[in-house]
Amino acid sequence: MASTHGAEVLVASNRGPVSYQVREDGSLGAKRGGGGLVSGLSAIGPDAGALWVCSALSDGDREAVRQGVGEPGVRMLPIPPDVHADAYNGIANSVLWFVHHMLYQTPLEPVFDAEFRRQWASYETYNRAFAEALAEEAAEGAAVLVQDYHLTLVPGMLRALRPDLRIAHFSHTPWAPPEYFRLLPDDIAHQVLTGMLGADRLGFLTRRWADAFTACAERFADGLGGTEIGVHGLGADADFLRRRAHEQDVNERMGGLREEIGEGRKTIVRVDRTELSKNIVRGLLAYRALLEEHPEWHTRVVHVAFAYPSRQDLAVYRDYTAEVQRVAQEINDAFGTPDWTPVVLHVKDDFARSLAAYRLADVALVNPIRDGMNLVAKEVPVVSDEGCALVLSREAGAYEELGEDALVVNPYDVTGTARALHEALTMPAGERAERAKRLMAAATALPPKQWFLDQLQALRGTQPS
Ligand code: G6P
Repeated sequence: MASTHGAEVLVASNRGPVSYQVREDGSLGAKRGGGGLVSGLSAIGPDAGALWVCSALSDGDREAVRQGVGEPGVRMLPIPPDVHADAYNGIANSVLWFVHHMLYQTPLEPVFDAEFRRQWASYETYNRAFAEALAEEAAEGAAVLVQDYHLTLVPGMLRALRPDLRIAHFSHTPWAPPEYFRLLPDDIAHQVLTGMLGADRLGFLTRRWADAFTACAERFADGLGGTEIGVHGLGADADFLRRRAHEQDVNERMGGLREEIGEGRKTIVRVDRTELSKNIVRGLLAYRALLEEHPEWHTRVVHVAFAYPSRQDLAVYRDYTAEVQRVAQEINDAFGTPDWTPVVLHVKDDFARSLAAYRLADVALVNPIRDGMNLVAKEVPVVSDEGCALVLSREAGAYEELGEDALVVNPYDVTGTARALHEALTMPAGERAERAKRLMAAATALPPKQWFLDQLQALRGTQPS
């Protein structure tokens, strides 16, 4: 099946670098995706024979596939929407995401029944579509870099189709410890692990997640076999961020935000997808506790919280979004004055406005329950005009690199988080600047391009299995 003119480097992920919308006049508009992976792959580019295989997610994407239009170097797979919904909403986001982020709790306990088995079959179909497309597109001996929990079965499937390939899989999430991973039915746990172990090399964001995977492989499969494990802590893209954060649209949004915040007030900034693992509600409760414990902050601080919609097909995400809005409103009702809004909450996605908030931040609040890395923790120190203080959860992957210069919190400890916010707000300017400088250096230690090239080089150096 190897094509003689195939791609030398292939990336596979659910969400791709570009998405299309059908405009009102029926034409197609393309929007470039953000994120480390997109900027990382631009280091290689289609000219170098690289190909990105991803799902056609929107109606516009499917229309682009139908019309045969698209970016060079990108192949979108028109997975049937019902198969994709089962695989993405049902398995990847409701089961695997929940297991790795340890989000199950009463009454949200998993039920692995016939419906789950049906969705699992879709997950297999979906993974197989990727494996077949990659097998078709890859040149002899090519390097294939598969991304994330959506595609755990691809390495094993692809290995069976194309034993000549070098295959890597990278997890952008945490990995669950064995005691939690064993929530999965035994055969499913085994399939996930052996699927991934079909790769020559598995990548993780931190040593902690890599060790958890190894422990699961030892306990629920036959160990790592010949598979290598690597840790690659994706860093912020300083060049891109600094340039982008000073463009006209960001300056304009800074003006708008300044008006919402009011003159001379400190800002505590957070930017997340509205995602259960990001712990936005406890962040708001900590801010509320700060206002209760320290009335001196009334009218002098504003919590700028951007909580962008995510995975809204899932009821639990919709409910969480509503709860975030309700708690923010309660704080504003309880403490607000005619010219002070204690929480400025925005839920409409706007990257330029996020950068504007980063620039204005005195304090960044990053308090996830569990997070593979959390790039916001790395981006704010790079972009903030005055060098902000960082309040950081010890359960974020970023903690391993930034922990020394951040104010570290247990994400469940609302009182402790409130204390850390107070400490961050009152940190002497000199200390804050010193810490910010070190945070920035650590945050940019492995920029996306290098992150990607390191993995490619390591993969090419592996022994063929
Ligand atoms: C996490 C995952 C990514 C995912 C992103 C956004 O960072 O590791 O694979 O793309 O969240 O989530 P979404 O479901 O919108 O793709």
